[in-house]
Amino acid sequence: MAVFAEEVNLAGYTTLRLGGPARRFVEATTEAEVVSAVRKADADGEPVLVFGGGSNLVVSDDGFPGTVVHIGTRGMEQAAAEGDRIRVRVQAGEDWDPFVARCVSDGLAGVECLSGIPGRVGATPIQNVGAYGQDVSETVVAVRAYDRRARACVTLDREECRFTYRHSVFKGDDRYVVLDVTYELRESEESQPIAYAELARRLGVGPGERVTLKEARDAVLELRRGKGMVLDAADPDTRSAGSFFTNPILDPAQLAELERRVAERLGPDATFPRYPEPNGRTKTSAAWLIDRAGFAKGHGNGPARISSKHTLALTNPGAARTDDLLALAREVRAGVKDAFGVELVNEPVFVGVAL
Ligand code: EPU
Repeated sequence: MAVFAEEVNLAGYTTLRLGGPARRFVEATTEAEVVSAVRKADADGEPVLVFGGGSNLVVSDDGFPGTVVHIGTRGMEQAAAEGDRIRVRVQAGEDWDPFVARCVSDGLAGVECLSGIPGRVGATPIQNVGAYGQDVSETVVAVRAYDRRARACVTLDREECRFTYRHSVFKGDDRYVVLDVTYELRESEESQPIAYAELARRLGVGPGERVTLKEARDAVLELRRGKGMVLDAADPDTRSAGSFFTNPILDPAQLAELERRVAERLGPDATFPRYPEPNGRTKTSAAWLIDRAGFAKGHGNGPARISSKHTLALTNPGAARTDDLLALAREVRAGVKDAFGVELVNEPVFVGVAL
């Protein structure tokens, strides 16, 4: 049964522990409840906010003036193997990391490097969740969603999801409500080739080599913990929304400008992280830019702070409000723009707020 309530404080549902009240709040535990709550709000002309784990949300202190639907659907089903491939269909409300843990213990490869990421399954295709050289666009083969425009349930294949770096057809548009996600995994005790240099180093293997699924998971969890990126009630650095900014992807002119600014600021021999992207573009590191613009780990003049473990996470150690977090985000964004000419873009979803 869906549970309805009024004036529910959203801070209790976000990993930042921030956000004001929802006018109406629906806890939906079946697909029918999700669809009917969204249909009803649409019919009434009410704004709708759908969310799962609350780990990628920055919600206004004023809350949300409409219906908030918390996705709590559970269950997964595995199809028969085709060769070494197995498809697993998972309800949107399943917690992500227990699903990854289960894949690892069942010998299903493809998501092991995405260990320790907070949130629920339904969010993973939206921002094309990625870490340590894997992202879900490599394994997602279908997303079933409620299409609010067509007022019908639809299935999108991988192409239709239009995955790019931390983006998809689902992000920045609330047309679709994700209901379940089908991942295609490989039956194997061995990981996918390790693509991320830092992870390969930690595992003591060369890039492109494989390790066991368990070794990959354990090493990723260790790395993430060291950066405050595994939720831990005892560690205030984990009261964040993960990376607060995306890594900028620069065209050749922007890259040349960055090279000029880096040389001017840090000397002619200074280098900066660069990763090649399609179409002649280059990805650089937001954390590096923030660091070198002069924002140290732990920085903060108010109650919101940069994590003491990673410059890319903005945190609420306890007493902050969303406005404090945004003030810090604006300070960081302006400092990076001023130092390097690069405009940082927020990665989490903003609800009722803007930078
Ligand atoms: N760096 C610094 N200072 C720091 C941390 C990092 O200068 O405090 C520089 C280093 O040069 C480092 C580079 O930044 O080599 C990259 O750092 P890291 O490997 O930690 O990755 P990231 O770019 O900060 C991205 C994702 C994370 C993901 C990690 C690991 C984005 C926006 N972030 O972070 O994803 O876990 O890689 O793959 O793409 C998230 O999206 O919320 C998230 C946590």
